[in-house]
Amino acid sequence: MINTSRTKPYYINPDLFFLFEKNSFCLWNYRDHEQFEIQKDLIELLIEIARDKSIPKDHPLLKDLLENNIISTTPYQDTQWGWDKLSHMFHKGTQNIPELFQKRTKEEMITDFIGFSKGYAERKSKGSPPKKSATFQLSKVEKNPQTLSFVETVKKRFTSRYFSGKSLSEKDFSTMLYYTFGNCHSGWEGISESVHLVGNRKTSPSAGGVHSIQAFVVVFAIEGIKPGLYLYDAIDHALTFIHSKADYQTLIPLMADQFYLEGLAFGVFLVSDLTKVWEKYLHSRAYREIFLDAGHLSQMLQLWATSLSHETWISGYFRDDDLMEYLQIQDETKAPLLFVGIGKGERTPLHPDMAAALKKYGR
Ligand SMILES: Cc1cc2nc3c(=O)[nH]c(=O)nc-3n(C[C@H](O)[C@H](O)[C@H](O)COP(=O)(O)O)c2cc1C
Repeated sequence: MINTSRTKPYYINPDLFFLFEKNSFCLWNYRDHEQFEIQKDLIELLIEIARDKSIPKDHPLLKDLLENNIISTTPYQDTQWGWDKLSHMFHKGTQNIPELFQKRTKEEMITDFIGFSKGYAERKSKGSPPKKSATFQLSKVEKNPQTLSFVETVKKRFTSRYFSGKSLSEKDFSTMLYYTFGNCHSGWEGISESVHLVGNRKTSPSAGGVHSIQAFVVVFAIEGIKPGLYLYDAIDHALTFIHSKADYQTLIPLMADQFYLEGLAFGVFLVSDLTKVWEKYLHSRAYREIFLDAGHLSQMLQLWATSLSHETWISGYFRDDDLMEYLQIQDETKAPLLFVGIGKGERTPLHPDMAAALKKYGR
């Protein structure tokens, strides 16, 4: 019988989860970053505690559970959290990571940094070079393309939801890709060429200089380029052909039925290659950084498009598995994060069909 009337003798830590891993049953405290291999008798005891059964004070396993903060004799603090447990695990599980538990002196920090860089360089050198297939060489970009002023550009950036289907010039297309995703710097300003660098610099910052994000470019209407899906090659400033299925009717369901993408001239899926992040960062805290990288790149692309007087649309909403199949990246090492669409159209946040519907329903 479950006793609900008296105060509980023991409380179970709410920041735990269980999983089967490597032939054992593991209890994971995701707030404290602790993992324990546990046996059947301990699971049984935890179930008894969860059900509020009375436990003999001299139970041989109680001491261990109390000492390891799996249970407590006082209630755990209630935390305010508006989403599911899974998001909380990620939120707390990537904070206060063990490698930062101890404060370090400047010398220790530099030693760690060098050791870390060495380990990263070794892991990175083991990666296999990407496979090459048919490529389309993009035109060389101008050093100072004609654009709106910086202030005009940032003030004009806008999410539009009505595109005309008009083509863009290859020159503008090439400029936007190069100054957003291209390796447009020679060397690393401020660091001598004799230093072996494993990081990368672009016009946007990237956590640890990893630049894990690849640009999968879907071309609908660019002068001189066959519609299709391509991967942007940042080193050669070229497009690698993937397939030719690039029509709005295919893309709309992938993008969660957002019909207003119709009429875009092109779009870029920002896809993180997680293997690049794993080479450098061993803790999942770095999962946060890939979204931040995507934010920087997407803003840069939108600003470039705006500065060349084109309209932009951005979306983080799509049918993940279907999209990955379309991009031909059905393994778990790649993560599509955002889509930025660019084209000619009207500066309107509402597609005319949406505006009409709102009017009809009197909103
Ligand atoms: C990460 C992110 C995801 C977004 N996802 C969508 C989306 O799925 N569909 C959409 O129509 N707009 C999307 N937007 C655009 C926002 O709705 C838009 O930025 C916001 O309404 C403000 O308008 P503005 O961009 O014109 O300033 C997204 C924006 C960001 C930054």
